[in-house]
Amino acid sequence: MEKRTPAILGGQKAFDPGIPFTAPTTPAWEEVAPSLEKMYRSGWLTKGPYLRLFEEKMAKLLDVKYAIGVSSCTSGLILGLQALQLDKDKGEIIVPSFSFMATFHSIWWNGFKPVFVDCEPDTFTVDVDQMRRAITPNTVALAAVSVFGNPLDFAAVERLGKEYDLPVFYDSAHGLGTIYEGKPLGGHGSFESFSLSPTKLLTGGEGGLVTTNSEKIAKHIIAGRDYGNPGSYECPYVGLNARMAEANAIIAAKGADYLESYAQYRNKVAQAYKEGLSDLPGLTFQTIRAHSRSSYKDFAVIVGPEFGISRDTLSKALTMEGVPNRAYFNPAGHKLSCYAQSQVHLPVTEKVSDSIVCLPISSHMDLELVSKICEVIHELYEVREQLS
Ligand SMILES: Cc1ncc(COP(=O)(O)O)c(C=O)c1O
Repeated sequence: MEKRTPAILGGQKAFDPGIPFTAPTTPAWEEVAPSLEKMYRSGWLTKGPYLRLFEEKMAKLLDVKYAIGVSSCTSGLILGLQALQLDKDKGEIIVPSFSFMATFHSIWWNGFKPVFVDCEPDTFTVDVDQMRRAITPNTVALAAVSVFGNPLDFAAVERLGKEYDLPVFYDSAHGLGTIYEGKPLGGHGSFESFSLSPTKLLTGGEGGLVTTNSEKIAKHIIAGRDYGNPGSYECPYVGLNARMAEANAIIAAKGADYLESYAQYRNKVAQAYKEGLSDLPGLTFQTIRAHSRSSYKDFAVIVGPEFGISRDTLSKALTMEGVPNRAYFNPAGHKLSCYAQSQVHLPVTEKVSDSIVCLPISSHMDLELVSKICEVIHELYEVREQLS
């Protein structure tokens, strides 16, 4: 068979039209339509019975006392952190830099300073020893993230929190579908906040979910998502409009029935990528923590020097082939200009951030497509000398 000339060298695109980077997997229309219609005709569009049903379902699924639907993971993080009522005068929260901007922004919106620490080179989740070293008398809390759905070392972070009497909270935006030590996420630390935006395994269109076993935190968030109004109009603190609309709750509640199958399927996609790329030198994959399952919200590849093509060139070449890809998280938190005053050097985060590329994945992606993408990456590898 004649060899294909890659698009970056003037050949035809491998995928024309291009493929999506991701696409939401939602329940069949027939499954959500009756509830959507009923809700629409009732005129009860927000703060209604479907939100309560969704919350009850998620509390059961995640085995946690309180599951509170909010407008986004970001608003959940902002309100959850506010609920901890920490000392503003001290004001530092230790957080891994290898995360999405919303993790740090929630800290900033509460008037605290994010103190960035490094991640582990293989799991990309927080390096707990670095966290320990970053603790000072100004530290008021620890925050951590299950990156791409790979669970962080919850046990180690929680031990550290106990040792220094610091509350711990989690950005679990990618964590629906994750299993840690045999259990879904949801019951760790003071609270966890999940995202239901369309790139996540479980989506409501938009939305978030805060889980906690603390009644005090739950009450704070329930009033906090409604401007801080406990019902009397007398606000003891400043809240947000962070409500989840009924339409979002209906879609997410039905999707929850399929979450486990979505997570299992994404693990198959990830496995197919690994098998399809493992013979190429210089490409490595995120290490999933032992006794755990990643949700594989994203499938990440590290492009090492032995591959012979830089991450940026590979990314450009794939884009030209119609294979969208993302360099998550680049820049990492400590490199974002809004946090530039932090001026720390985090060698592991910087290395991961400079060499990572996330490939297309969804909960219904055809495995044939995965092997075609792997084939394209092999073709690029064959012409690596012409690309450098
Ligand atoms: C790690 C992380 N945290 C927070 C968020 C924000 O989620 P949302 O868009 O629901 O606010 C995201 C979004 O993808 C994320 O990746």
